[in-house]
Amino acid sequence: MSVKDELLEKIAARRAVVGVIGLGYVGLPFAVEKAKVGFRVLGVEQNPLRAEKVNRGENYISDVRDEELRELVARGLIRANMDFSTVPEMDVIVICVPTPLTKNLTPDLSYVERVTRELARRLRPGQLVSLESTTYPGTTEEVMLPILETSSLRVEVDFFLAHSPERVDPGNKRYTTKNTTKVVGGVGPESLDVALAFYGQTIERVVPVSSAKAAELVKVFENTFRAVNIALVNELALLCDRMGLSVWEVLDAAFTKPFGIMPFWPGPGVGGHCIPVDPHYLEWKAKEFNFNTHFIALAGEINRRMPEFVRDKALRVLSRLGVAPSRARILVLGAAYKRDIADHRESPAVEVIRLLQEYGAEVAYHDPYIPSLRSVGLDLDSIPLTAEEVQKRDLVVIATDHSSVDYGFVVAHAAHVLDTRNATKGVTDGRGRITLL
Ligand SMILES: NC(=O)c1ccc[n+]([C@@H]2O[C@H](COP(=O)([O-])OP(=O)(O)OC[C@H]3O[C@@H](n4cnc5c(N)ncnc54)[C@H](O)[C@@H]3O)[C@@H](O)[C@H]2O)c1
Repeated sequence: MSVKDELLEKIAARRAVVGVIGLGYVGLPFAVEKAKVGFRVLGVEQNPLRAEKVNRGENYISDVRDEELRELVARGLIRANMDFSTVPEMDVIVICVPTPLTKNLTPDLSYVERVTRELARRLRPGQLVSLESTTYPGTTEEVMLPILETSSLRVEVDFFLAHSPERVDPGNKRYTTKNTTKVVGGVGPESLDVALAFYGQTIERVVPVSSAKAAELVKVFENTFRAVNIALVNELALLCDRMGLSVWEVLDAAFTKPFGIMPFWPGPGVGGHCIPVDPHYLEWKAKEFNFNTHFIALAGEINRRMPEFVRDKALRVLSRLGVAPSRARILVLGAAYKRDIADHRESPAVEVIRLLQEYGAEVAYHDPYIPSLRSVGLDLDSIPLTAEEVQKRDLVVIATDHSSVDYGFVVAHAAHVLDTRNATKGVTDGRGRITLL
């Protein structure tokens, strides 16, 4: 039997051992999904706090159910290691490590490269390696493959290599890892076969594309699509502000059209690990082909400017209220980069806080999911959202529209509210004290 047939058989019988490298927002839900259907999962996680938590069955990712992880760990189906010593035991190795940007907005592939070097040292015949981290087209074939081939094993013969981008939308209750269609591309047909067989075990619909490069481009295009459309409605918000029109009214009406348009909403900017980052991976790669991705550059420029626009609008409101910025007491509601999640990476809300502090304002924040902002260099802990805390501020800025917050209560007690998300849409009383983005 060929190594490929042997691996396919193990996958079909769910005897294949699944390695997940990086147990974060992507890796941990993925590990749980695989273990739930009977695969034994060996995680590799360099953060000791995370690795220890997993081994104690303690969850730290909101998309994972606490009791589900606890039970899978108790049954011995998930275990985490901090080193790569378990790689030879793995049949399928899925890489979910960060792919950030450098300060100059160029791809930082150091995590992927480090992991790939660790794997190359331990690779054995009959393994599938699949990269799930978001990256530019060519990473799997041009960066990972040469490193893996230093093992002297041959791709498509001894081992298999694919890219299957993760599409998880943190906090989305309707679409999870299991029911989100997955795109898969192999570096060759054998790799594609094995990867399709593996992903098909747990994911309802798997879509093959002709190469790993195409799969990589699919993902960066999807996130570019979001970045560009968000920039478009953000630009409309800037224009509406000048024209004295409500961007929310205009968009609400525009999205009643049943075809040819889809909803995107303005806000204080974009955040998280994906939308502000991924398009720049494509922008960088395009330059190799003497090609400028104009939409990406423009969208990045508009979206990055939004926190400043919110700051300026807050200053205008304060001036109308007769409060000098340096004496203003401001409460920012929400620090996460989007609704109902506990993630403040690249969050525009954090940027808004910083910009208001630069004007000397005393800024406090409340976020039910984010107890402290000390990790991003701000000397702030979330304050309780009480009537007294709201009343003593000159302005409340709604930066993230968490659904657990009672916006009627906020408006009832606030001197004034600057709402950058239209979170107060359903509030009828006190509308004169609300300024929308
Ligand atoms: N978070 C999302 O919504 C999302 C969605 C789709 C795709 N992605 C992509 O998936 C990838 C991972 O993102 P994430 O949000 O899960 O990141 P994350 O930071 O939450 O998790 C990555 C984990 O990898 C670990 N790690 C880093 N280097 C390691 C190493 N050498 N060995 C072992 N572990 C290592 C980190 O400690 C961390 O726990 C990124 O490329 C991201 O762009 C993220």
